[in-house]
Amino acid sequence: MSTKKQPAWLEDAVFYEIYPQSFNDTNADGIGDIPGITEKLDYIRELGCTAIWINPCFDSPFGDAGYDVSDYYKVAPRYGTNEDLRRLFEEAHRRGMHILLDLVPGHTSVEHPWFRESLRAEKNAYTDRYIWTDSIWEEPAGYGSLRGISDRDGSCVVNFFSHQPALNYGFYKPERPWQQSMDSEGALATREEMKNVMRFWLSMGCDGFRVDMAGSLVKNDDNAKGTILLWQDIRRFLDEEFPDAAMVAEWGEPDKSLQGGFHMDFLLHFGPSHYNDLFRCENPYFAGNGDASEFVAKYIESYEKSERKGLICIPSGNHDMDRLARAVHGDKRKIAFAFLLSMPGAPFIYYGDEIGMRYVEGLTSVEGGYSRTGSRSPMQWDKSVNAGFSTAPKTMLYTKQDESADRPDAASQMSDENSLRSEIKRLIAVRKTHRALQSRGEIEFVYVGKSAYPLSYVRTCDNEKILVILNPSDSEAAFPCDLSLGECIYRFGGRISANAGMVTIPANSACYVEIK
Ligand code: BGC
Ligand code: CA
Repeated sequence: MSTKKQPAWLEDAVFYEIYPQSFNDTNADGIGDIPGITEKLDYIRELGCTAIWINPCFDSPFGDAGYDVSDYYKVAPRYGTNEDLRRLFEEAHRRGMHILLDLVPGHTSVEHPWFRESLRAEKNAYTDRYIWTDSIWEEPAGYGSLRGISDRDGSCVVNFFSHQPALNYGFYKPERPWQQSMDSEGALATREEMKNVMRFWLSMGCDGFRVDMAGSLVKNDDNAKGTILLWQDIRRFLDEEFPDAAMVAEWGEPDKSLQGGFHMDFLLHFGPSHYNDLFRCENPYFAGNGDASEFVAKYIESYEKSERKGLICIPSGNHDMDRLARAVHGDKRKIAFAFLLSMPGAPFIYYGDEIGMRYVEGLTSVEGGYSRTGSRSPMQWDKSVNAGFSTAPKTMLYTKQDESADRPDAASQMSDENSLRSEIKRLIAVRKTHRALQSRGEIEFVYVGKSAYPLSYVRTCDNEKILVILNPSDSEAAFPCDLSLGECIYRFGGRISANAGMVTIPANSACYVEIK
């Protein structure tokens, strides 16, 4: 497996993640929309991003911000129409950009008509669309369940919140009479329907999917053997009908997801990745007084397991975690981006992180966001009303905005050479012109000490070798290095110096140097 070809555009893609509710509202209802995204394509392109991932924009009661789909084939009316989405694909393509939609194959909303049908006592076409035990008195061991809301006698497995019933893709090893196998009629019908969903949007011009909880589909599947087989089957379908479709998994185990035919996977903020050690813990490494060594150890482990393909995308943040700016301040954010934009895999910039948008403290949960709500506030475009996000009355906005007088905004940062956004724009431009820095260049760590600075690694592609040195701490830092240093292709902060086998970098500085 994994001889699959990767769409060429993915090689040097830099993604921008859009939470559609909060990006740009064009009809003054306080909620972002699809035409709002189309309107801002030039802004995204100007930053240097070439691809976009949009969080679910399908019809939904929004109990989990759209991750509870009630119609996979229809854009939620609050975002516009399917035609608006088609136009967005076209406008993106005209600019050489690509768009991934968010596919949520693991569960639906309780309001999905499939689920309404599956609640019924009489057997029908959707009886086996979800996973049900065959008696209300049996709860599915090891899974959460929805119980007592149906005439049907049984408990329904849920995948995430208790209003998100799990679609039935079967059990790798069925152990109870109600547990169907992966090749049972019901499980196969679900799988075929999900292919139809993909077919529908890919035919309309979508370039691929970010797949929600991609590793969760087959149950009783400890090593994901069944889930991998399932995705391999989907890959075969794509190879036949949509060979250029890009697939990025929210899975966090690239050895598994890549086998399943995904092109890339994400480093997750939960599980064993130690990603949070970098930006989101008590002492994050990029806040200047932390430890990156366990992160690096884990990173190398999954890098080796995925045959050094380096296809683990590291996001600046996303709609599920605290804003990067919550714990990493000032110029240290620039150094964090010098890291994010020089690592293998495609970088993902969460909307607003390019201007250092803050986590909005103290918000009441909106649409099942809970603590995530503070990272989902409306984009700050400029200094006009509602920061240019919407002309609706303030009380109608999706969530409250950052109300501080000094809140960052895109327009101000675009006209300031020294802003975070301008720095990110320079970093993306450097990445674009150096293949070694892109997705597939190899990585070798040169220096990573226990609670030590700097962090240094070499990126290599063909004859190009680039040494990256990052020091987000408040002290000068040095490390042993006898590489023969050439031209500096990117620098933030002070200059590095090399002497007697040691390289020294000033406090709060970053640089990329060619190796001769
Ligand atoms: C998404 C979340 C969502 C969950 C359930 C996640 O991994 O990113 O926002 O709540 O899946 O669909
Ligand atoms: Ca709107």
